[in-house]
Amino acid sequence: MPADDLPIALDRAAGRPLAVQVADALRAAAAGGALRVGDRLSSTRALAIRLGVSRAVTAAAYDQLLAEGWLAGRQGAGTFVTAAPPGAVPAATSGAPASPAGPDRRPALSGDRPIRRTALVPAGASADSGPIDLTAGQPCLDVIDRSAWRRAWRAAADRPPSRRPEPSGHPAFRQSVVDHLLRHRGLPAHPDQVLATCGTTDAVDEVAATLPTGSTVALEEPGYQRAAAALTARGLLVVPAEVDDEGLRVDRLPPGLAAVYCTPAHQFPLGPRLSARRRMALVARASAEGFLVLEDDYDGELRYDVAPLPLLAALDPEVVVHLGTSSKLLTPALGVGWMVAPAALHARLLASRRRASIRPSPAGQLVFAALAEHGDLARHLRRLRTELTERRARVVRALAGTGAPVLGDAAGAHLRVALPTGSAERAVVASAARAGVRLPGLARYHRGPPRVFGVSVGYAGPTRDELGRAVALVAELISAELISSEV
Ligand SMILES: Cc1ncc(COP(=O)(O)O)c(C=O)c1O
Repeated sequence: MPADDLPIALDRAAGRPLAVQVADALRAAAAGGALRVGDRLSSTRALAIRLGVSRAVTAAAYDQLLAEGWLAGRQGAGTFVTAAPPGAVPAATSGAPASPAGPDRRPALSGDRPIRRTALVPAGASADSGPIDLTAGQPCLDVIDRSAWRRAWRAAADRPPSRRPEPSGHPAFRQSVVDHLLRHRGLPAHPDQVLATCGTTDAVDEVAATLPTGSTVALEEPGYQRAAAALTARGLLVVPAEVDDEGLRVDRLPPGLAAVYCTPAHQFPLGPRLSARRRMALVARASAEGFLVLEDDYDGELRYDVAPLPLLAALDPEVVVHLGTSSKLLTPALGVGWMVAPAALHARLLASRRRASIRPSPAGQLVFAALAEHGDLARHLRRLRTELTERRARVVRALAGTGAPVLGDAAGAHLRVALPTGSAERAVVASAARAGVRLPGLARYHRGPPRVFGVSVGYAGPTRDELGRAVALVAELISAELISSEV
């Protein structure tokens, strides 16, 4: 049946929001087969006219289904059905074609009050595929072009075996990093300044080993706990560095530091970008007081509708260790990262690699270099940005109606939803887990007592379909929690 011919009857006396009724009717039509994958829907305007409702009603219904992942918009082409909701059930009042009877298992629109927790459909995948994971920092494997991937591995395999891999990394890799840093991060560097690493966490460990045992390193609180663990394992004292909505509070850093570890492009996990004036202040203090700054640029290639800010390493390469990784860009399975360190530290690291015969495995480096050489890396980055831009917009839309502030979404691949208390955070995290969604609360990123409450929502890892379901569920849980904590 053409999507335009769908019978949608609205019950204006029912007290259920009209947008909910429209979404229910469309969901039920897809579940019942009246709408098929690939069908194009009427525009929100045309449907609104046909149903005699305002366009806001049809737009809210479409937004909900987009967020749930049943629909997708294609620029200039319209809105399409992308998946059939399993077992969706029409609301009794919707007038849509009936499907087999069952409990009301649909995710509710945020305006659909009151929310009954017991009515939630488990959003997670089946027991064998595990929960849907919204943990920040996962790669978006969906956009990796498998033929480009195969081509890069073949190109890597075609290189003749090497007698002695270089401790600084393969020259082709270091050249590709230089190009990447210049084109995408605005950092001029020479291949001789680049050290290949096995990833950022490993690089933090390597730098930590050069700092005097017992010296103090400030690390953002909340922050990246694996970096904290790497530093403490090397006998360093990790102290909290305060963070607010401009990023690290440079003015609150204590004196006597050996180093500061930070995530200026997208503070992990809260999400603000370190403001330009604080960037200048940080490198100025580092230079004056003689401490190192570890700039973890883990998802720095990703930002939305905001201008780039200068890398700390570009502001003062004498005090900043710049750390990059392919873990978010491609996959941590490649085991490849890079470091650009001040000259003296670079020489020291290289000497100690030589002494211990440490050389990061070249296989992943060669794959990265091949992707870069063939233009596949740049194409991948474009695809990744497009995909994440869309995902982010959907997630923000789905969460907007909860009443909880959605923050830290100008960059990267995760955002934060603020919650009023630690107990609200724990309740939402636990309910999500019960429904098959792994949703990290901010408590886990604190070393001390949590002082910022909420959840972090990573949107790169799951498939689109999983993301739509999981985020609809999270939105519902947050709305319900906010209502119950008001009562
Ligand atoms: C803030 C931050 N930095 C670095 C990394 C990890 O990078 P790598 O896999 O290169 O160690 C992560 C991984 O989640 C991260 O969240």
